Amino acid sequence: MPTVTMTVNGQQVSREVEGRTLLVQFLREHLNLTGTHVGCDTSQCGACVVHVDGKSVKSCTMLAASANGAKVTTIEGLARNGELHPVQAAFKEHHGLQCGFCTPGMVMSAVDLLQKNKNPSEHEIREWLEGNICRCTGYHNIVKAIDHAAKQMGS
Ligand code: FES
Ligand code: FES
Repeated sequence: MPTVTMTVNGQQVSREVEGRTLLVQFLREHLNLTGTHVGCDTSQCGACVVHVDGKSVKSCTMLAASANGAKVTTIEGLARNGELHPVQAAFKEHHGLQCGFCTPGMVMSAVDLLQKNKNPSEHEIREWLEGNICRCTGYHNIVKAIDHAAKQMGS
Protein backbone atom coordinates (compact mmCIF):
# COMPACT_ATOMS: atom_id res chain seq x y z
CA MET A 1 0.00 0.00 0.00
CA PRO A 2 1.29 3.51 -0.75
CA THR A 3 2.40 5.77 2.08
CA VAL A 4 0.72 9.14 2.33
CA THR A 5 2.44 11.98 4.18
CA MET A 6 0.87 15.33 5.02
CA THR A 7 0.87 17.98 7.70
CA VAL A 8 -2.37 17.88 9.66
CA ASN A 9 -3.03 20.64 12.17
CA GLY A 10 0.67 21.46 12.22
CA GLN A 11 1.92 17.90 12.70
CA GLN A 12 3.47 15.76 10.02
CA VAL A 13 1.78 12.37 9.70
CA SER A 14 2.51 9.36 7.50
CA ARG A 15 0.28 6.34 7.05
CA GLU A 16 0.04 3.44 4.65
CA VAL A 17 -3.36 3.63 2.98
CA GLU A 18 -5.20 1.96 0.15
CA GLY A 19 -5.23 4.09 -2.98
CA ARG A 20 -9.02 4.48 -2.79
CA THR A 21 -8.94 5.98 0.75
CA LEU A 22 -10.71 9.32 0.84
CA LEU A 23 -9.22 12.23 2.73
CA VAL A 24 -12.17 12.21 5.12
CA GLN A 25 -11.57 8.51 5.89
CA PHE A 26 -7.90 9.20 6.40
CA LEU A 27 -8.67 11.94 8.91
CA ARG A 28 -11.41 10.09 10.77
CA GLU A 29 -10.26 6.48 10.64
CA HIS A 30 -6.49 6.73 10.50
CA LEU A 31 -5.94 9.86 12.61
CA ASN A 32 -9.08 9.70 14.80
CA LEU A 33 -9.94 13.29 13.91
CA THR A 34 -13.67 12.68 14.05
CA GLY A 35 -14.64 16.35 14.17
CA THR A 36 -14.83 16.18 10.38
CA HIS A 37 -18.20 14.62 9.67
CA VAL A 38 -19.72 12.58 6.86
CA GLY A 39 -23.31 13.53 6.18
CA CYS A 40 -23.95 12.25 2.65
CA ASP A 41 -22.49 10.17 -0.11
CA THR A 42 -23.21 12.63 -2.84
CA SER A 43 -20.73 15.48 -2.13
CA GLN A 44 -23.59 17.79 -1.23
CA CYS A 45 -23.81 18.37 2.51
CA GLY A 46 -20.46 20.02 3.33
CA ALA A 47 -20.17 18.36 6.77
CA CYS A 48 -16.73 17.12 5.69
CA VAL A 49 -15.14 20.48 4.79
CA VAL A 50 -11.50 20.92 5.82
CA HIS A 51 -8.77 23.21 4.53
CA VAL A 52 -6.15 21.86 2.16
CA ASP A 53 -3.31 24.32 1.65
CA GLY A 54 -5.55 27.02 3.09
CA LYS A 55 -8.60 26.44 0.90
CA SER A 56 -11.86 24.78 1.90
CA VAL A 57 -12.35 21.37 0.33
CA LYS A 58 -15.03 18.71 0.74
CA SER A 59 -12.79 15.97 2.09
CA CYS A 60 -15.17 13.27 0.83
CA THR A 61 -14.37 14.33 -2.72
CA MET A 62 -10.59 14.05 -2.45
CA LEU A 63 -8.35 11.01 -2.18
CA ALA A 64 -5.94 10.99 0.73
CA ALA A 65 -3.19 10.33 -1.82
CA SER A 66 -4.10 13.58 -3.60
CA ALA A 67 -3.35 15.46 -0.37
CA ASN A 68 0.13 13.94 -0.19
CA GLY A 69 2.52 16.72 0.84
CA ALA A 70 -0.31 19.16 1.61
CA LYS A 71 -1.05 21.17 4.73
CA VAL A 72 -4.46 20.14 6.07
CA THR A 73 -6.40 21.90 8.79
CA THR A 74 -9.44 20.33 10.43
CA ILE A 75 -11.85 21.78 12.93
CA GLU A 76 -9.62 20.35 15.69
CA GLY A 77 -6.78 22.58 14.50
CA LEU A 78 -8.64 25.87 14.41
CA ALA A 79 -8.45 26.99 18.04
CA ARG A 80 -5.18 28.59 19.16
CA ASN A 81 -3.75 28.14 22.67
CA GLY A 82 -7.11 27.02 24.00
CA GLU A 83 -8.92 30.02 22.48
CA LEU A 84 -11.70 29.43 20.01
CA HIS A 85 -11.21 30.89 16.54
CA PRO A 86 -13.40 34.04 16.19
CA VAL A 87 -15.73 32.14 13.84
CA GLN A 88 -16.15 29.34 16.40
CA ALA A 89 -16.74 31.89 19.16
CA ALA A 90 -19.34 33.70 17.03
CA PHE A 91 -21.23 30.45 16.31
CA LYS A 92 -21.34 29.86 20.06
CA GLU A 93 -22.42 33.40 20.89
CA HIS A 94 -25.09 33.65 18.18
CA HIS A 95 -26.49 30.12 18.56
CA GLY A 96 -25.33 29.17 15.07
CA LEU A 97 -25.84 25.51 15.84
CA GLN A 98 -28.35 23.10 17.23
CA CYS A 99 -27.42 19.42 16.80
CA GLY A 100 -23.95 20.51 15.66
CA PHE A 101 -23.59 17.93 12.91
CA CYS A 102 -23.06 20.49 10.15
CA THR A 103 -21.06 22.85 12.34
CA PRO A 104 -17.45 21.78 11.69
CA GLY A 105 -18.00 22.04 7.94
CA MET A 106 -19.89 25.33 8.29
CA VAL A 107 -17.11 26.83 10.40
CA MET A 108 -14.32 25.66 8.08
CA SER A 109 -16.21 27.04 5.05
CA ALA A 110 -16.87 30.34 6.82
CA VAL A 111 -13.21 30.75 7.78
CA ASP A 112 -12.25 30.30 4.13
CA LEU A 113 -14.88 32.85 3.06
CA LEU A 114 -13.51 35.42 5.51
CA GLN A 115 -9.99 34.80 4.22
CA LYS A 116 -11.19 35.65 0.74
CA ASN A 117 -13.70 38.37 1.59
CA LYS A 118 -13.20 40.22 4.86
CA ASN A 119 -16.56 41.99 4.75
CA PRO A 120 -19.10 39.78 2.97
CA SER A 121 -22.69 40.91 2.55
CA GLU A 122 -25.51 38.71 3.87
CA HIS A 123 -26.16 37.65 0.28
CA GLU A 124 -22.50 36.70 -0.21
CA ILE A 125 -22.50 34.67 3.01
CA ARG A 126 -25.66 32.81 1.98
CA GLU A 127 -24.30 32.19 -1.49
CA TRP A 128 -20.99 30.89 -0.11
CA LEU A 129 -22.80 28.45 2.18
CA GLU A 130 -24.71 26.90 -0.71
CA GLY A 131 -22.55 23.80 -0.41
CA ASN A 132 -23.21 23.39 3.32
CA ILE A 133 -26.51 21.92 4.43
CA CYS A 134 -28.01 22.44 7.88
CA ARG A 135 -31.17 20.59 8.82
CA CYS A 136 -31.73 22.37 12.14
CA THR A 137 -31.10 26.08 12.28
CA GLY A 138 -32.78 27.61 9.24
CA TYR A 139 -29.38 29.25 8.57
CA HIS A 140 -30.38 32.61 10.06
CA ASN A 141 -28.12 32.40 13.12
CA ILE A 142 -25.31 30.89 11.10
CA VAL A 143 -25.34 33.90 8.80
CA LYS A 144 -25.55 36.22 11.80
CA ALA A 145 -22.57 34.47 13.41
CA ILE A 146 -20.43 34.77 10.29
CA ASP A 147 -21.35 38.43 9.89
CA HIS A 148 -20.41 39.05 13.52
CA ALA A 149 -17.11 37.16 13.13
CA ALA A 150 -16.27 39.23 10.05
CA LYS A 151 -16.79 42.43 12.04
CA GLN A 152 -14.74 41.10 14.98
CA MET A 153 -11.88 40.01 12.76
CA GLY A 154 -11.91 43.25 10.79
CA SER A 155 -11.88 45.48 13.86
S1 FES B 1 -19.88 14.16 3.43
FE1 FES B 1 -18.77 15.39 2.07
S2 FES B 1 -20.26 16.63 1.15
FE2 FES B 1 -21.44 15.33 2.47
S1 FES C 1 -27.10 22.27 13.52
FE1 FES C 1 -28.02 20.34 13.05
S2 FES C 1 -27.55 20.08 10.95
FE2 FES C 1 -26.90 22.08 11.37
